[in-house]
Amino acid sequence: MSSLLVTGIGSLVTNDPAHGGPLGELHDAALVIEGGKVAWVGSRRAAPAADSSTDCGDRAVIPGFVDSHSHLVFAGDRAEEFAARMSGQPYSAGGIRTTVAATRAAADEQLTANVGRLVAEMRRQGTTTVEIKSGYGLTVGDEARSLAIASGFTDETTYLGAHVVAPEFADDPAGYVDLVTGPMLTAAAKHAKWVDVFVERGAFDADQARAILRAGQAAGLSARVHANQLGEGPGVQVACEVGAAAADHCTYLTDADVDALASAGVVAGLLPAIEFSTRSPYPDARRLLAAGVTIALATDCNPGSGYSSSMPFCIALAVREMHMTPAEALWSATAGGAAALRRTDVGRLTVGARADLAVLDAPSYLHLAYRPGVPLVHRTFVGGREG
Ligand code: NIG
Ligand code: FE
Repeated sequence: MSSLLVTGIGSLVTNDPAHGGPLGELHDAALVIEGGKVAWVGSRRAAPAADSSTDCGDRAVIPGFVDSHSHLVFAGDRAEEFAARMSGQPYSAGGIRTTVAATRAAADEQLTANVGRLVAEMRRQGTTTVEIKSGYGLTVGDEARSLAIASGFTDETTYLGAHVVAPEFADDPAGYVDLVTGPMLTAAAKHAKWVDVFVERGAFDADQARAILRAGQAAGLSARVHANQLGEGPGVQVACEVGAAAADHCTYLTDADVDALASAGVVAGLLPAIEFSTRSPYPDARRLLAAGVTIALATDCNPGSGYSSSMPFCIALAVREMHMTPAEALWSATAGGAAALRRTDVGRLTVGARADLAVLDAPSYLHLAYRPGVPLVHRTFVGGREG
């Protein structure tokens, strides 16, 4: 097993509390990668010998971003819908049906190529772990193929047959829930790790969400929820009740919702690129942090409510618009994302963690928010491999 010494690191964010500060940041650092994992971390003067080495030229190195929420399996786009929004139309989940029609009509190869393009786009921006949902198929066959395609790119696949009621079931939502908890779940479960429901007026209510999440759990999937995006509602409470890993969006929360997230230990996934693209108020990150809730920042990349694949953009928004400190935002985009996926092997650069890292063309992680829109990711490594 050959080892690689990564040296010349001006600033290394480890997310290891043992190194102090909010991010366990080390200066003039080095790390050693062996077998795809971090084998050693410390001062560059104390670095051990390795089979080969690479120099970062005093740049900053951070853990690769963990994007815990995306919808990449789709065809087409909805740029016109975005333009209409910017002229004053409100966002409505009804647009999902446009993408469902395009996705159903697309060949497997076309969907696979689109996911590959977006995953590559994410990688260039420092993302090394991504969760990918289905939810634009809404038939047994189209949900199963969406997840089969997603699983070619990530282990973090999520069954979202309960995105909206399929158009064929517009007059029979109960029948659609039976499909989602029955044959569609059976076909989807072999390609999925997670089950998700869009809990919102116009999508699924609390009873339907409970039934779908419980059925998914009985089939071996773990739960995560789209909660409280467009208004107050039962999403967060249902997520806490079923022991979901994360309640995502959390744009409209009551005090009881904040308390429930804190006491249940459910991660709040905040998706500020969606508020940017829908002109909605941003979620109140400070209120969640004050209550001790763990925050994950994610892109929610999708063709409707927000089509950004960029974690640096989310960090910039979280700092500028949600009043997170740059350190809180970076932690939430790395270790927070890992917590939302119940992963301990990513989102940190500690001995034994997967060697997933981004080298920034900047002396400090602060530049991620300080220089928004600038492509600062210089190199990425996933499992120790550059690419
Ligand atoms: O997370 N909220 C539901 N689903 C997506 C939007 C999907 C779409 O508009 O196509 C979201 O924002
Ligand atoms: Fe989403």
